[in-house]
Amino acid sequence: MALRFLTAGDSHGDSLTGIIEGLPAGIPVSLRKIRRELRRRSQSFGRGSRQEIETDQVEILGGLWKGKTTGAPLAIRIPNRGRKVSGKRGGALSTVPRPGHADLAGCLKYGLDEVPPISERASARSTAMRVAIGAVARMALERFSVEIISHVRSIGGIAAEPGPLSVDGIRRRVARSPVRCVDPGVGRRMADAIRSAQEEGHSLGGSVEVVASGIPPGVGSHVAWDRKLDARLAGALMSIQSVKAVEIGEGLDTHRRFGVDAQDAIVLDGGRLARPTNFAGGIEGGISNGEDITVRVYAKPIPTAKKCLPTVNLRTLKPRPSPYVRSDVCVIPALGVIAESVVAWELLCAVMEKFGGDHMDETERNLRSYLASLEERTRP
Ligand SMILES: Cc1cc2nc3c(=O)[nH]c(=O)nc-3n(C[C@H](O)[C@H](O)[C@H](O)COP(=O)(O)O)c2cc1C
Repeated sequence: MALRFLTAGDSHGDSLTGIIEGLPAGIPVSLRKIRRELRRRSQSFGRGSRQEIETDQVEILGGLWKGKTTGAPLAIRIPNRGRKVSGKRGGALSTVPRPGHADLAGCLKYGLDEVPPISERASARSTAMRVAIGAVARMALERFSVEIISHVRSIGGIAAEPGPLSVDGIRRRVARSPVRCVDPGVGRRMADAIRSAQEEGHSLGGSVEVVASGIPPGVGSHVAWDRKLDARLAGALMSIQSVKAVEIGEGLDTHRRFGVDAQDAIVLDGGRLARPTNFAGGIEGGISNGEDITVRVYAKPIPTAKKCLPTVNLRTLKPRPSPYVRSDVCVIPALGVIAESVVAWELLCAVMEKFGGDHMDETERNLRSYLASLEERTRP
């Protein structure tokens, strides 16, 4: 059974709902761990008062028995604190589309002259459910010793160039940085840049890197475009609000080099096949090659800022400045958490396609026997 999920809910509605189908039985699901991930997303440096309506509360409505998945659809609810959206009067600004959002294109497409039906659903509030679903995926992947972490590489043009880092190294270093940057000096400059942007009425974009360790070789496939692991990761990450580019491994550097300096050699090291470098980000031909999977995600500065662009009232057609409501200044540290969750989900989907199983014990048996067969093949 292929894994899939569906979400519903508005930014200021009663709650967000998510239903995951196709999970094997036996995944231990901890509400505490889901809440922890939601908190990492909502409490990140650079976020604004928008977070006041987020509670980090979460409920599981079905699909669990004694704390473990049953194989049935898993239903998740995340309540919103605050006002209800349905039937709400729009207000004077409700017919003014904001540049940089889905507002105008959505109103044109759906034949509307009021923005809230579009903006309520297009809002990045929906990423809270992506994080909750990703947290469930992580709990499944933990059984196979897969670990996923992210760090902030750049904010507003201030960049860290740390070189290759292990998941543990990243985890230790980001824990000490309010902006989740592995370089303390660069992290301080990033935090200062966010504070200045806030004072000056600007917003800031940037980039994050997600690293996943423990994915065995052979996940994903070269045989069809929609089974390629790199393509699936890139598509899923691009669907996060404000993401404008995704890079697999060192793709943005390697395109400038000679071919020989852009590939990862294959060597035998102590009876094991090894790769001295990881320019490919752990994926070759759409298939995981056993190295850490690394992807980089680039996001534009969020559109809402005190310094705003002109727009037009859709009812009166009179020009006016884009409306400003207090909002986030820089969502890049939060983006790291969201991107980790999205990567966790896509990796779980691909792992389940490769190893199958209706119960986690069966999946693990299949994985272990495959790993044993790989060891056999590389034994001298
Ligand atoms: C975690 C997160 C929080 C965001 N918060 C805001 C916000 O407070 N104000 C805003 O204007 N945009 C915010 N955005 C960005 C918008 O959701 C996004 O720019 C918009 O939906 C259109 O982006 P797109 O063209 O890439 O889809 C946020 C994005 C993310 C990922």
